[in-house]
Formats: sequence, structure tokens, C-alpha cells
Amino acid sequence: MKLNIALLAGDGIGPEVIDQAVKVSDAVAAKFGHEISWTPALTGAAAIDAVGEPYPDETHDICVAADAVLFGAIGHPRFDNDPSAKVRPEQGLLKMRQKLGLFANVRPTFTFPSLIDKSPLKKDRIEGTDLVFLRELTGGIYFGKRGREDNDNTAYDTCTYTRSEVERLARKGFEMAQQRNKKLCCVDKANVLETSRLWRETVQKLEKEYPDVEVSYEFVDATAMRLVQWPNSYDVLITENLFGDILTDEASVISGSMGLMPSASLGEKTSLFEPIHGSYPQAAGKDIANPLATVLSAAMMFETAFGLQDEADAIRAVVNKSLAEGVVTEDLAEGGKAYKTSEVGDWLAANI
Ligand code: IPM
Ligand code: MN
Repeated sequence: MKLNIALLAGDGIGPEVIDQAVKVSDAVAAKFGHEISWTPALTGAAAIDAVGEPYPDETHDICVAADAVLFGAIGHPRFDNDPSAKVRPEQGLLKMRQKLGLFANVRPTFTFPSLIDKSPLKKDRIEGTDLVFLRELTGGIYFGKRGREDNDNTAYDTCTYTRSEVERLARKGFEMAQQRNKKLCCVDKANVLETSRLWRETVQKLEKEYPDVEVSYEFVDATAMRLVQWPNSYDVLITENLFGDILTDEASVISGSMGLMPSASLGEKTSLFEPIHGSYPQAAGKDIANPLATVLSAAMMFETAFGLQDEADAIRAVVNKSLAEGVVTEDLAEGGKAYKTSEVGDWLAANI
């Protein structure tokens, strides 16, 4: 099969972790007889520096033309402490999500047998956790009207959802639950927010179309607590953009490291695969960042964008092997040998 993939390395550790995902993907392609054509494109601070804009039209055209997009990370500290910056790298990410219509962000949380003792949470709590968040990605407060008034002394951000935005995300959640353990949890704040009441109403209406799925409703504050108390009681969780952003960072603690968690953003025009972690500027250029989240995002890409299950499984198997054999970066080394980012990538590719 010919796989035409747009490659957006982005900022910080993005290029380093992307390099490893490319090595591993190329090794998988060679093994299974596929041909990958990678088309690199600029995003984030790197794109601002080059062309003054974090998601240039040229990058968008490359993404639209590709069968899938593999993405590293975006963000640069130079912009973080400058509230007056007119262009920010993150705007590129949001623009990309919106222009590509990436409305459903799939963020799985699972434990790795060899890392179960590395989680700060107790083993008996997290063992067997296998849940997936479906985070709405192109609506809500991220994209609502925002501004300043009262001579710059008041600021506002607004959260808006339409019934159809909620419905298309919820349907994906129901379908995903049907393929998994048939449990769906709608996470909202319906005791306070009108948008949350629309979410709940919409999901309740859909329930009868999916009678095999057991649906529950939780307030987001309660989920924040239950997620670390009883993570293995969840299967599929659907939620709006900001709640999903916060809860998925929290959920990454269950697996032991942010450096391990992949994601897929499913869209109208194409799909995008990226680690859930950020650009980790402190580590940029040091060859120390954990590449596994990006490598596992490539596995999700083979599976979801191309329907290549054996290829995805081969990547997951080699990742598990590296963890079991201690071929890991410093975040997981715990006194043992810490491998470089590039060494982990070479090892994974060689072991495919
Ligand atoms: C994420 C990130 C982004 C988000 C930032 C970088 C804008 O935290 O993908 O979770 O908030 O969506
Ligand atoms: Mn986030």
C-alpha cells in the first residue's frame, strides 16, 4: 500500500520524537511491503519564524492532500510569558484543528504491565485500566467569542455548542463503546452550564439508538476524582473540549508518564496523530525526550487511517518489549541506564 503522510514536527522536542516515529514507521513499512511518502511541513513557532504564521496555507494544503498527518508538538516559552504576543504557536494548532475539521480527539489511557509500579498511583487501583477519552476538539470555549471590554479591565471567553456538534461526537462515542466494553460516560457540568445541559439532552436522545451501550452521566468535578480512584471502572468517556484537555492530562498519570500517551484526531478532511504531551522546551535538542507517545501515535495511524492492524500491533509489541527490557529514556530509567531518544528509536526500528 502507498501511504502518503504529512509530517509536522513542530517545536521543542517535536522534531526529535517525530524522527523516531518515522524510523519505526519506515521499518514497519519495509517489513509489511508498504511505501511511505513523507511530506514535511512547517507549524508552530518554527513556522512563525520562517513565514510569520503558525499554520501556513502551504502546510494546510499538504495536510489536506495527505492520507494522514503525523504531528509532533507545538509551543515555545518565548511566547508563554508574553501575553501581548499577537501570533502564538498554539494558534496554529487550533487553526489546524478547525480547518481540518478534527472534531474528535481520541485519547486512550492504559497501563503497561512493565511500568505498573512506576505510576504514583497504587497498583491495585490502576491495574487493568483501559479507557478512552473522546474529547470534542473544534468547539466550546476554545473557539467561542473572546475579548476585552471595560477599558481592558474585563476579559471574557464564551463556550458555545450546537446540537449537531454534540451529536456527531456522541455518535462516535457510542460506536466506539460498541466496539469495546459497551460503556459510555458523558462528562459534563450540567448542574451549572447550559452547554452541558445540551450535551446531556443530546446524549440522552441517542441512547435508544444504541440499546447495547450502558450510559452514565457524571459531573466533571466528580470525574476528576473518580478517574484516579477507580480508573478501571471506565470504558469510553465523551466530553467537551476544555474538560477533555484537563482530564486527559490527569489520566496520563495512570500510565506512568505523559511521554507514553498517543492520540488520534479524527476529522472531516483527514486525520491527525499526535502525542498528548507538549513541546517540553527544557529538553529540546538534548536527545532525552521519551519518543514512545509519538511512536504509539504512529501505531494509531496505521490502525485508524489505513486499517493496518498487524502493522499497528507490531509497533505496540516492540514498544512493550523496549519497556520490558529497560530500553527507555531517562523519565522511565529510575536509576538504570537512560537511553537517548534516538537510541530508543534505533532499537525499536531494529526490533520491528
Ligand atoms: C493539547 C494541548 C493543546 C490544547 C494546547 C497546546 C493548545 O494542551 O493538545 O491537549 O489545549 O488543546
Ligand atoms: Mn492539553
